[in-house]
Amino acid sequence: MPDPTSLLSQAAARVRDPVSGRSLAEAGLVDGASVEGNVLRVQVRVGPDHDPEARARIAAALGRHLAEAGWSGAVDVDWSEASAPRAPADPGVEPARPIPGVHAVVAVASGKGGVGKSTIAVQLAVGLRDLGLNVGMLDADIYGPSLPTMLGIHTRPEVGSGGKLVPVLARGLACMSIGFLVEEGTPVIWRGPLVMSVVRQFLEEVDWPELDALVVDLPPGTGDAQLTMAQRVPITGAIIVSTPQDVALIDAVRGLKMFERLGVPVWGIVENMAWYELPGGGRDHPFGEAGAQRLAAREGVPLLAQVPLDGRIRAAGDAGDPAGIGDGSAAGAFRALATAVAGRLGR
Ligand SMILES: Nc1ncnc2c1ncn2[C@@H]1O[C@H](COP(=O)(O)OP(=O)(O)OP(=O)(O)O)[C@@H](O)[C@H]1O
Ligand SMILES: [Mg+2]
Repeated sequence: MPDPTSLLSQAAARVRDPVSGRSLAEAGLVDGASVEGNVLRVQVRVGPDHDPEARARIAAALGRHLAEAGWSGAVDVDWSEASAPRAPADPGVEPARPIPGVHAVVAVASGKGGVGKSTIAVQLAVGLRDLGLNVGMLDADIYGPSLPTMLGIHTRPEVGSGGKLVPVLARGLACMSIGFLVEEGTPVIWRGPLVMSVVRQFLEEVDWPELDALVVDLPPGTGDAQLTMAQRVPITGAIIVSTPQDVALIDAVRGLKMFERLGVPVWGIVENMAWYELPGGGRDHPFGEAGAQRLAAREGVPLLAQVPLDGRIRAAGDAGDPAGIGDGSAAGAFRALATAVAGRLGR
């Protein structure tokens, strides 16, 4: 009988993983193998996107290619799901490098636009600051930078002595925004190389101070631009924002899967616009009830906060005054969010 290890490596190079489109070998999905009698037992690592059909295809192809390579016994596949597969290293993309002086990067993301991602990112940054952490904010939303508005920033970063951009200090946060780099109202077509060069600028040409956390407002969606951004920024943990209705949740799941595929831990989901508090007491649920809560339970991800729909949140955002939300249940939800994230930061 030929050496099973070499047969397996031949077969793994030929079996295509239907999820990544690469061979099992390239995608690094074969975790190990053992021989028991005339059975070759192969451990294949699968992620959430490997549905039963994908697994069946892998198992069938493995059996076929192992037989072709000369294995005459049976083949059994064990699926290991302990950790999601890391994105196969894309030859064109260098791995994200840590930002000097920055302890952790917390990405706030959403599948769908307009769900309150920037609002949550700003409130999270302010909440972490209130817990005594040194916090920075990076507004990397190429489609609609809103940090300057939401924090009331009217100045632009200056170039420091080292030739690097110095973040603008606003409300105790070290801030950089893509809005500082592009003219307001100028349409910009964001192609991959352009996104890459802007990300590089943020990571290498900004003189970030010592930070416990850099909160990043990522562009909404899961397309190429978002993927480039998520691959380039050294994200420590991601937070997904969704409203409770199905159209937002479907996109939120895409966001979740994107981070899982990239090997970025998803720290939790924030349900925004979860309800509206009626003047006479009681709650109305204009966007549906507890959709993100159910999603979090289904995906096994913590629900970090439920933020009510509150006119003061909108007004505070427009006025560039995060504290303008008052001290009601919205403020309580944001405090809970900041406390949970600070726990993850170990700060
Ligand atoms: N819980 C809330 N209650 C009331 N208004 C809210 C709430 N959350 C967000 N808003 C308002 O909704 C609008 C959209 O929010 P925001 O800009 O934060 O969303 P976004 O997901 O970042 O959008 P985009 O995809 O355009 O970047 C803003 O005017 C904001 O003030
Ligand atoms: Mg936004």
